[in-house]
Amino acid sequence: MKVKEAKEEDLEKILEIEKICFRGIYSYSLEDIFHFFVKGTLLVAEEEENILGYIAGEIREEVSRVASICVHPDFRKKGIGKALLEKFERKSKETSKLILLECNRSNPSLDFFLKMKFGIIGLVLNYYDLPFNNSRDAFLLVKPI
Ligand SMILES: CC(C)(COP(=O)(O)OP(=O)(O)OC[C@H]1O[C@@H](n2cnc3c(N)ncnc32)[C@H](O)[C@@H]1OP(=O)(O)O)[C@@H](O)C(=O)NCCC(=O)NCCS
Repeated sequence: MKVKEAKEEDLEKILEIEKICFRGIYSYSLEDIFHFFVKGTLLVAEEEENILGYIAGEIREEVSRVASICVHPDFRKKGIGKALLEKFERKSKETSKLILLECNRSNPSLDFFLKMKFGIIGLVLNYYDLPFNNSRDAFLLVKPI
């Protein structure tokens, strides 16, 4: 399994994984994913030309932000999410001191971010337009890098 920069032909596959992971609740559109491809950072985990997961975000001066990270349900708990996030962290380190992200307070993936040494710095009530597991609230998480 390799983590690398997404290519334009990967975008449809990324969209498929995004839709499976967020079951259409607040999933990104193809336009959103294209935005990260052109203006942000879009990395994929690939094995034998299959896309197993991706991370999208923005690497900036001082503070970078992870907008989304998804691993196909059939390939979770195998270290793929960790590999994606670590590569994003290594790239962010070139310009940033901190990575920021938001995570729904009811999303079980919160434990993944805590394991990856993110810390909760706040809770934004009604952050999301639509609920996930009955919550629209987001935890704000940061990791100094
Ligand atoms: C969050 C997500 C990307 C993690 O991907 P993954 O490939 O399963 O994660 P990894 O296998 O790399 O896990 C790294 C560590 O986190 C732990 N972990 C991962 N998911 C976890 C969970 N739901 N609960 C508790 N621990 C978890 C793993 O056990 C592992 O710990 P270890 O290093 O001690 O073995 C994946 O669950 C996912 O796509 N979720 C749906 C999309 C989502 O909600 N994304 C986040 C919001 S943007």
